Order: sequence, then structure tokens, then C-alpha cells
Amino acid sequence: MAAPYDKTNPFAARLVERRRLSSPASQKETVHFSVSLAGSGLSYKCGDSLGVFPTNSAPAVDALLKAAGFSGLEPVLIPKDPAPIPLREALSRRLALNGPTYKFVQLLHDRAGEADRARLAERIAESDPEKKKAWLEQREFIDLLEEFPTARPTAQELIESQRRLMPRLYSIASSPAMHPQEIHLTVAVVRYETNGRRREGVCSTYLADRARMGESDLPVFVAESHFGLPADDSVPIIMVGPGTGVAPFRSFVQDRAARGVRSPAWLFFGDQRKDHDFLYADEWAGHLKSGALTRLDTAFSRDQERKVYVQDRMRENAAELWKWLSDGAAFYVCGDAKRMAKDVDAALHAIVAEQGGMTPEAAVEWVKQLKKDGRYQRDVY
Ligand SMILES: Cc1cc2nc3c(=O)[nH]c(=O)nc-3n(C[C@H](O)[C@H](O)[C@H](O)COP(=O)(O)OP(=O)(O)OC[C@H]3O[C@@H](n4cnc5c(N)ncnc54)[C@H](O)[C@@H]3O)c2cc1C
Ligand SMILES: NC(=O)c1ccc[n+]([C@@H]2O[C@H](COP(=O)([O-])OP(=O)(O)OC[C@H]3O[C@@H](n4cnc5c(N)ncnc54)[C@H](OP(=O)(O)O)[C@@H]3O)[C@@H](O)[C@H]2O)c1
Repeated sequence: MAAPYDKTNPFAARLVERRRLSSPASQKETVHFSVSLAGSGLSYKCGDSLGVFPTNSAPAVDALLKAAGFSGLEPVLIPKDPAPIPLREALSRRLALNGPTYKFVQLLHDRAGEADRARLAERIAESDPEKKKAWLEQREFIDLLEEFPTARPTAQELIESQRRLMPRLYSIASSPAMHPQEIHLTVAVVRYETNGRRREGVCSTYLADRARMGESDLPVFVAESHFGLPADDSVPIIMVGPGTGVAPFRSFVQDRAARGVRSPAWLFFGDQRKDHDFLYADEWAGHLKSGALTRLDTAFSRDQERKVYVQDRMRENAAELWKWLSDGAAFYVCGDAKRMAKDVDAALHAIVAEQGGMTPEAAVEWVKQLKKDGRYQRDVY
């Protein structure tokens, strides 16, 4: 029988482990989590992701209520819901507190007193699109309500201006062969500053700061993925996973360890500094010894003056990499989509062209075929 839990009916899981992976001296906060699936009937595959429904932080909700002049008890009806709920609940669990649009700025304009209306009209009329965009990107709902104190939408108008609070996906970092009843995650906690205010990523800080240990109240679901180990265990694998991108490769290598797979497996890992950000260093050492991982190349970007990235290590090992690919290896990339995955893709094309003696056009075709064959897979975000 299929498990009854999915995105529309998440399982209330227990968080059973929370352990910081990056050192306290790191510029990043990367945290390992274990979530128990016991009692859910859920299962997962290497390469799948876990969906997590976060809750906004109570201080952030309180501050927004205060800025907007509401108690939180006001009933609001979220579109398509059968019945109204109190505003505080809507802001805590259902709506995003960031990402206001110019439609909301217009609403504030329409509800504002004279002085605020003039200032809002100026913002709306801004003719430089870059400036206009940048101004709003620096602001969340609370900034706008505080900056324009006479502009007071109704509670219903406020919630209809907000986006839905969506679940976040995290690449699963454990193997079902080793941990059938648990899912591990590797999460970079998002904290930054805009408009002079400290901001928090909703879900990563929910997991890091607010989710309760040992209580059955973390709403999760398993999101299946096309990303995964080759069906044939003898196929060599090349894994490129800097930062949290290493998560699914911990799953892959754990799986190989648990099932005794010892075919060639090469991991490229990168992060800021070896002493502070070498995620799961001890585990890789163990896997290298057992042969579950056969090669590891690291790129610690900030340990020297010039930045060194995973694609630099790929280029330094171009001949060997080409040999693996020619021998039928599958190539995997996981992590940052904006820059890293593009640069790794460019490096792969360059290596194929140079080592394979191909024109750039032929290399493009060769890599296309690699993708078609399912031997070039990406899990990027
Ligand atoms: C398939 C998939 C797998 C993933 N796997 C992982 C994983 O294994 N580990 C992991 O950590 N994440 C992973 N992610 C990303 C994860 O889903 C979340 O997007 C991430 O944790 C941030 O969510 P959040 O709710 O904490 O932050 P949000 O509340 O969503 O805030 C993030 C937003 O804040 C803004 N922001 C962030 N930093 C800055 C800054 N410096 N300056 C200005 N604005 C900024 C940006 O607008 C950004 O979009 C994955 C995503 C996908 C789609
Ligand atoms: N806004 C930022 O500046 C910033 C910084 C770090 C993390 N983050 C966020 O934190 C989240 C998770 O971070 P993460 O741990 O997965 O990874 P990450 O911290 O972004 O990166 C891991 C490693 O990849 C390096 N890197 C940067 N650009 C690269 C590129 N073009 N090609 C290859 N490697 C590159 C980083 O180096 P360097 O960082 O030394 O360049 C670092 O050594 C991401 O969603 C990211 O948005 C943001």
C-alpha cells in the first residue's frame, strides 16, 4: 500500500539530531540534521529530497503585527481556504513575510496620509528600473509599514498581498541502505542583512533555531528525483559537490559503503576553508580507506590569496577526468545553480574539447549525448 504522506499531507516527523558541521570560526553556518521517519511508512532513494514546511519566527510575526497595528486576532480568509483563521496564525504558518511587490506599494499609497502618499508616489514613479527594483529588494513588509506609518491596509488586504509560505527542499544526505528510518540533511543557514536589518532565511533558521528536538511536529514529505546512482553499480561515478552540494554524494557514498560497492568513485568537494568548512571530513577518510570512495579532490577557496574552485581541480586533472568519462563514468553536479553549476559545466565542455580533441561544437554535442544517456545529472538550486 502506498504511504499516505506526501506534499499535501506531510508527515509530522521527529528531529533527532542537530549538529554544526562548520566550525564556530567559519564564516558560514552549515548544520547536519537527522529526521526520523519512524512510524510514517515513508521510504526514499539516494538522490531524493526532503520537503520541509517551515514556520515563521514568533518575534518576526509579532514585529509585523505591531508595525501594522493589529492584535493578531483579526480573522482573515486565505484565498481558497474554507474558513477564516486568526491573522497571527496566517502570518506564522501560511504566508511569507518577505517579498512585497509594487502592487503592495500601490496599496500603501492608496491607504496613506498625505505626506506618506507623496513619498510612495515618488517611489512608484521611479523611472530607473534598476533603482526601482533594488529599492524594493532591500525591503520586507515590515520595512514598508514602518517607513510609511500612515499607510494602513486592512488585515485582509495585507494577507492578500503576501505570497504563500512554501515548503523548502533539501537534498537527502543519507542512504536508505544505511539509515532506512532516518533522513539526514546538510543545511546552510541563511542569515544576512538588507536595509540595515538582520534577516533570516525562513526554513534554514526554522530547522537551526526553532524546530523542537524529539517532538513529532516537523512537517515533511519525500520529493522523488530523477537524480540518482547508476542502475549498474560497476559504472564509475564522478561527483562535484561544493558546499551543501555535497549532501547527495554523502548519500551515494554511504549507499556504496553499505552495499559493498567498490567501483571507481571520485568526489570533488570545495568550501571556504579546510580547517572550518571541510564537511564530513572524517567520513570521507573512512570511505577512502574502505574503497566506497576511491578518490577525493578538494578546493578550499579561501585558504590562499587566489580563489581555487572545484572546476580548477577538474582542469588540473583533465586527462584523468577524460579517461573516466571515456570509460563510461557518470558525472554528477549538485549545489549552487547561479554560478558554480554554470562554471563547472563550462569546465566540463572545455575538458571534453581539449582532451577529446574536439571542436567546441563537437564537445557540445558530446556533452548533450552524455545528458541524454543519463550520465550527466544535476541537482542544482
Ligand atoms: C532540489 C533542491 C535541493 C536543495 N538542497 C539543499 C541542501 O541540501 N542544503 C541547503 O542548505 N539548501 C538546499 N536547497 C535550498 C533550500 O531549499 C532553501 O532554498 C534554502 O535553505 C533557503 O531557504 P530559507 O527558507 O532558509 O531562506 P528564504 O527565506 O527562502 O530566504 C532565501 C532568500 O533570501 C535572500 N537572500 C539570501 N541571502 C541573501 C543575501 N546575502 N543578501 C540578500 N538577500 C539574500 C534571497 O532572496 C534568497 O532567495 C535546495 C533547494 C532545492 C530546490
Ligand atoms: N551571497 C553570498 O555571498 C553567499 C556566500 C556563501 C553562501 N551563500 C548561500 O549559502 C547557500 C549555501 O551555500 P553552500 O554551502 O552550498 O555553498 P557556497 O558557500 O556558496 O559555496 C561553497 C564553495 O563554492 C565556492 N564557489 C563560489 N563560487 C563558485 C563558483 N562560481 N564555482 C565553483 N565554486 C564556487 C565557494 O567559494 P567562495 O565563497 O570563497 O567564493 C565555496 O568555497 C547558497 O544557497 C548560497 O546562496 C551565499
